[in-house]
Amino acid sequence: MNIFLTGATGLVGGELLVTLSKRSEVKKIYCLLRSATIEQATERLKKVFSLHGDVYNEEQIVPVLGNLFDDNLTETLKHNKQLEDVDVVLHSAANTSFSRFNDEQVEKANIGGLTKILLWAKQLHLQTFLYIGTATICGKDVTHRVVYEDESPNLEATHLVKYTYTKMKGELIIREHLPADKILIARPSIIMGDSRPIMPRSPVILWAMATINHLRLIPVNEHSQLDIIPVNYAADAIVALLFAKRNHTVYHISAGEAGATTALRLSKMLSSYFDDMPPFNFINNSMLNQVKHWTKDRLAPESELYTYKNYLDYWHETFEDKGKLRLLFTGLDPYLGFMELGHVFDNTRLLKDVGIENAEPADVYMEKSMAFVEKIDILEGAIDP
Ligand SMILES: NC(=O)c1ccc[n+]([C@@H]2O[C@H](COP(=O)([O-])OP(=O)(O)OC[C@H]3O[C@@H](n4cnc5c(N)ncnc54)[C@H](OP(=O)(O)O)[C@@H]3O)[C@@H](O)[C@H]2O)c1
Repeated sequence: MNIFLTGATGLVGGELLVTLSKRSEVKKIYCLLRSATIEQATERLKKVFSLHGDVYNEEQIVPVLGNLFDDNLTETLKHNKQLEDVDVVLHSAANTSFSRFNDEQVEKANIGGLTKILLWAKQLHLQTFLYIGTATICGKDVTHRVVYEDESPNLEATHLVKYTYTKMKGELIIREHLPADKILIARPSIIMGDSRPIMPRSPVILWAMATINHLRLIPVNEHSQLDIIPVNYAADAIVALLFAKRNHTVYHISAGEAGATTALRLSKMLSSYFDDMPPFNFINNSMLNQVKHWTKDRLAPESELYTYKNYLDYWHETFEDKGKLRLLFTGLDPYLGFMELGHVFDNTRLLKDVGIENAEPADVYMEKSMAFVEKIDILEGAIDP
């Protein structure tokens, strides 16, 4: 099998690359990278393998230069003779930003970029187009219940962020270009950290947990279910799915009802490691606005937030500058929004067709990564969460 992989330098794509490279069925993995030269691209790929001491085989892993933003990406790929024998396209690259300041880029990468890849892929003798979607395309109207694969894509759904909208549109676009028997859509839930006691591949969502850990007074429902899985589980499940006898086109890659956690359970795990900080206190999500006003010195004197004076004093002491707190809460805002929704993504299809076990709940597997969480610079991460 020859695979064309996008997003190989990312959290999920990196793990997929390493996992695929260990499968005897895989001959070549061509990786699309937005590097200036083949040498730079090769260096980036080597880093993906060296992070956890995996073996990089340059006969097997082949860098291909390209950017989802390139106008001529489809033509460049079409003219690349070595790609003619690709039988699986695995599209993991995306702009995953939740910030509305990046909406244009998000749309350009996740809709425009995907379309360019599809226009090239559809003329190959393709076995499978594997798209890494996201379970969160169900949108924000669905709350506090188990969500099933067939509920999406739904054009009527409303979204917390542009990112999930573009991923939903992406699935519809794939169906316009390819027949159903060539499409495989893997929709992971929330991917955070690694369940092995090793350096997680990327701090993206860990940043939110590290920030929550520092702040301690959190405007979110602590009992909302959180469907979180580790990146190594996501990659193992997706690769197993690629080789499995499948009965469906779309699969959640998720914790499901048995593996979901809550903010409360995560906070207990954090408290037992970081035991010299104030206790966690969860307040209503609607109080996030009061927090934001407080950071701007515009909070009305009768506001409820003042009843948490000990936390406000703790924030003052820890962060000194309210501007820093403003930055942290602005970055955290969409994450709190997702946490509030209480989505649990049914994983019956995955467990049945792949025969994989459930992932351990995040409050259990994350225990092994506390030393890495401790090292996260939350202010640096807040600039581009
Ligand atoms: N992380 C999660 O919790 C999660 C959950 C559900 C679904 N997903 C899905 O999983 C996939 C991978 O996400 P991730 O978490 O691995 O994201 P990530 O860590 O941000 O990685 C994104 C990857 O896409 C590449 N990319 C971005 N823009 C590009 C462009 N214009 N041209 C070429 N490559 C570009 C990046 O390359 P550079 O290194 O050059 O920037 C990087 O390799 C996405 O499709 C996402 O929707 C993620």
